[in-house]
Amino acid sequence: MKNNLAIEVENLTKIYTPRRKPPVRAVDGVSFSVERGTIFGLLGPNGAGKSTTIKVLTTLTPPTSGKAMVNGFDCVGQPLETRQSLAVVLQQNAFEQFMSVLNNLRTYAQFHHIPRAEANKRIPEVLDQFGLYDDRHTHAIDLSGGMRRRLQVAKAFLSGKPVIILDEATTGLDPINRRTTLDAIRQQASKGSTIILTTHLLDEAEDLCDRLVIINDGKIIAEGNVSEIKRLGIPAYSMQLIFKNIEDETRKYLNRLNPLHLKINNTTVDITLQRTHQEILALIKELDRTYGLIHFEVHMADLEDVFINLLSQRKEDNR
Ligand SMILES: Nc1ncnc2c1ncn2[C@@H]1O[C@H](COP(=O)(O)OP(=O)(O)OP(=O)(O)O)[C@@H](O)[C@H]1O
Ligand SMILES: [Mg+2]
Repeated sequence: MKNNLAIEVENLTKIYTPRRKPPVRAVDGVSFSVERGTIFGLLGPNGAGKSTTIKVLTTLTPPTSGKAMVNGFDCVGQPLETRQSLAVVLQQNAFEQFMSVLNNLRTYAQFHHIPRAEANKRIPEVLDQFGLYDDRHTHAIDLSGGMRRRLQVAKAFLSGKPVIILDEATTGLDPINRRTTLDAIRQQASKGSTIILTTHLLDEAEDLCDRLVIINDGKIIAEGNVSEIKRLGIPAYSMQLIFKNIEDETRKYLNRLNPLHLKINNTTVDITLQRTHQEILALIKELDRTYGLIHFEVHMADLEDVFINLLSQRKEDNR
């Protein structure tokens, strides 16, 4: 393992064999690596195999075959060292319900052998960072779902471990708390931690992750940084067009373009099209000449459109 890598996964496969049910290939030959100090995203729809990959990395389940290394340690051969290298927030919450927020953090710090002086300094910092300071004396059981989630992430960050794994850490957070949590994740990465996160929120991956893989049915269907993924041979552009007026003829024309997304509201049209740069320019000229445009705006489609497109392409290929 190269020592600039925090995670190395090679040809990882996990087949669950539930009783009286057919086996499930939850992870099917997945390979990726994560450089130290970066934020890495595992993206995919429900059941894609994200949590299973996380469970193998955190030694909670053994792989069926393939290799998984964390911080230079083999998840199968060196489970103890692997676990010592990482802090994880699992998709299912786990914490001391009957302890206050503060005591949850103190117990966690003790358990992870963080010296008391350091814990006393860092606990108020994370409480503040995650907007939990005012609730530090509240029992965990009395917290809202979103606050519990933040307490979980706060604990992982308190640990000071080189690798932090967050499985759907921001699910269920309101926009403001999501922002706070995302900022905290960024800050932690800038201090040198490696962060692996799973999400199906594409905008989140888009503004957080240095690199990401998209998995579907246990297989990687795309990988790279956000702009690389966007350039995967399927350029897609989102446009806002404002027409002088819109007739049935215009609507028909727009529909015939086979858009990934189309919304018409009075004379304003939001449309996402899979075309090259040149085709888009030509199309705008054409629309202006034929129907009369007052205004247009073009930008590369966001990850969500690309993602949906990749997944549906994959489905068609398998038919
Ligand atoms: N313990 C298990 N036994 C049998 N099958 C399982 C088990 N855990 C997961 N699976 C199956 O493996 C596949 C991948 O599940 P996994 O939880 O890894 O998906 P995920 O990408 O995390 O999805 P989500 O977005 O819903 O969290 C699914 O088909 C799931 O039903
Ligand atoms: Mg999951």
